[in-house]
Amino acid sequence: MTKSMKKAISLCLFSMGALSLMAQSNEFKIDVQKTGAPIQSTMYGIFFEDINFGADGGLYAELIKNRSFEFENPFVGWTPFGNVSVQTKNPCFDRNPHYVRLSYEKELTGTGLDNEGFKGIGIREGEKYDFSLYARSQSGMPIKLRINLVNSQNDLYEQKEIEVSGKEWKKYTVVLTPGATEARSRLRITMATKGTVDLEHISLFPQKTFNNRPNGMRADLAQALKDLKPGVFRFPGGCIVEGTNKATRYQWKNTIGPVENRSININRWNYTFSHKKFPDYYQSYGLGFFEYFQLSEDIGAEPLPVLNCGLSCQYENQDPNENCPVDKLQPYIDDALDLIEFANGPATSKWGKIRADMGHPAPFNLKLIAIGNEQWGPLYPERLEPFVKAIRAKYPEIKIIGSSGPQSEGEDFDYLWPEMKRLKVDLVDEHFYRSPEWFLNGAKRYDSYDRQGPKVFAGEYACHPANRENSFLTALCEAAFMTGFERNADVVHLCTYAPLFAHVDAWQWRPDLIWFDNLSLVKTPNYYVQQLYGHNAGTNVIPLTMQGEPVTGQQDLYATAAVDKRSDELIIKVANTGIRNKRIKLNLNGLSAGKHKGTLTLLHSSDLEAKNTLCNPSAVVPVVSDIEIEAPQVEVNLKPLSFSVYRIKL
Ligand code: AHR
Repeated sequence: MTKSMKKAISLCLFSMGALSLMAQSNEFKIDVQKTGAPIQSTMYGIFFEDINFGADGGLYAELIKNRSFEFENPFVGWTPFGNVSVQTKNPCFDRNPHYVRLSYEKELTGTGLDNEGFKGIGIREGEKYDFSLYARSQSGMPIKLRINLVNSQNDLYEQKEIEVSGKEWKKYTVVLTPGATEARSRLRITMATKGTVDLEHISLFPQKTFNNRPNGMRADLAQALKDLKPGVFRFPGGCIVEGTNKATRYQWKNTIGPVENRSININRWNYTFSHKKFPDYYQSYGLGFFEYFQLSEDIGAEPLPVLNCGLSCQYENQDPNENCPVDKLQPYIDDALDLIEFANGPATSKWGKIRADMGHPAPFNLKLIAIGNEQWGPLYPERLEPFVKAIRAKYPEIKIIGSSGPQSEGEDFDYLWPEMKRLKVDLVDEHFYRSPEWFLNGAKRYDSYDRQGPKVFAGEYACHPANRENSFLTALCEAAFMTGFERNADVVHLCTYAPLFAHVDAWQWRPDLIWFDNLSLVKTPNYYVQQLYGHNAGTNVIPLTMQGEPVTGQQDLYATAAVDKRSDELIIKVANTGIRNKRIKLNLNGLSAGKHKGTLTLLHSSDLEAKNTLCNPSAVVPVVSDIEIEAPQVEVNLKPLSFSVYRIKL
């Protein structure tokens, strides 16, 4: 057991003493008729960043790594054999000029190349995979290529042939249907006849993608996002928006149009942690801004793009030349204005036409935009200001999100909040990766926030124990903390846990919400907390008090209540972080006397260290049971170390 877990438990034990002295005061007074602040439909959302191989190798369903040979070392991901060289003359795609030349002129000794995928290529027996490449024959004469799927022992799972002919670049496709399921297969391309052939943009995609989109998302991972019922979808980062320098910043215009000609970018998580280097981590941008908007639509979430504000990552780069001077910001500001046109403009507008040509003539209905990620100091507001002016002038209906920096409190935070008020941004993005103790103490954080200022977007948060592992402890602390989001729904309008995804064999940062390998995924206890909030958001907060006070940790209890006007239900969420049962009298003021049906969803474990893993994905999962209560007063039993969600028919 880690130190922080011990501390959490000892905190529980400490307050248990108080509990026994005050047992009779466990009464929640809930005023069902006193409808309070609306809970925004965007309240509980998700934040996606390409970290931990979350995009390429994760959500983006492409199975080939370095498909365009554009990594700094063009053979990363590939094992060439025989006579294979990298070329750039007369390329097929001007923004991705590298391609490979395979030559097999004399002996039939074998020329070709293998791709290793992302820690292997995950394939399923009997499912269909679209293989494609661009190719030309140097002589123009037909050349046969053998396309195989093999495992590490070279056992053959599938074999097809393609015949390349003509001197011009052409696209060739074939469907592969593997005869076995394998998480770590390899793709092998071998010349089957003599000649010299050029190959480019070699791709392998499952036919089954989320919503059957071409160039789509891995079905199980995207479905897991939809299952959270997210209200908002923040993308594409995070630190990758900033880049380590100007050249590596995220530029959305490079991520749209035909995928073959989207120029790649190194991923900063390639080298950020010296003890966890991933030289094979790049952004193909196959998952680009069009796909992000489309995915938002497919999962029913409001899109929330984050744009670079003219600053490189302030942690990584203090060179002032790597920041854009304030008087040269116009191209950055144009990127923001053009993005709004790309998302919302008519198909006749310049950027709206590109969206329409990509297959989405209808607008994406963008309402929110964030400028800057984790910026701090005067460098930030002086850059944000011209963005705000330009966006307000052209698109007054768009809500602008500014940042309060990387810390949850302290000097930078205290400087930026007033600055955000001065600039009149609509929402302020707060980030906190903090200890279990911080999360438990923070349940009242927003109770004292200014009700007149910008609203809060908790854009990145996660409970970080000393060992930085996902566990029931962290999930329970988050559940307790989030009661404060809901109780303060007049101030907190959006919140998104971070990061979202991690590949079990290629991660840089943890904890994360969803872990996966090449074939399966596991939902953490933290995922289930997010899901319980997402599915039980309600429409309006109602007062819930114990001895006249909001329940923010007294006797290890954290609680909030809401009504759902759409379904006519009362929703009560209670976290019990103590190690004893608690009997609570619910005093349901305003609920008609008599029996009311409902459900109780319980997330509980007696082991704070309990985790869900790929091998044991159900160690901590919510359990739903039907209940019937007698209004207006009912006694309920709160299990120790539990998060309970009651839904009661009004
Ligand atoms: O979520 C991981 C990183 O944490 C994000 O990229 C960054 O914004 C924060 O520092």
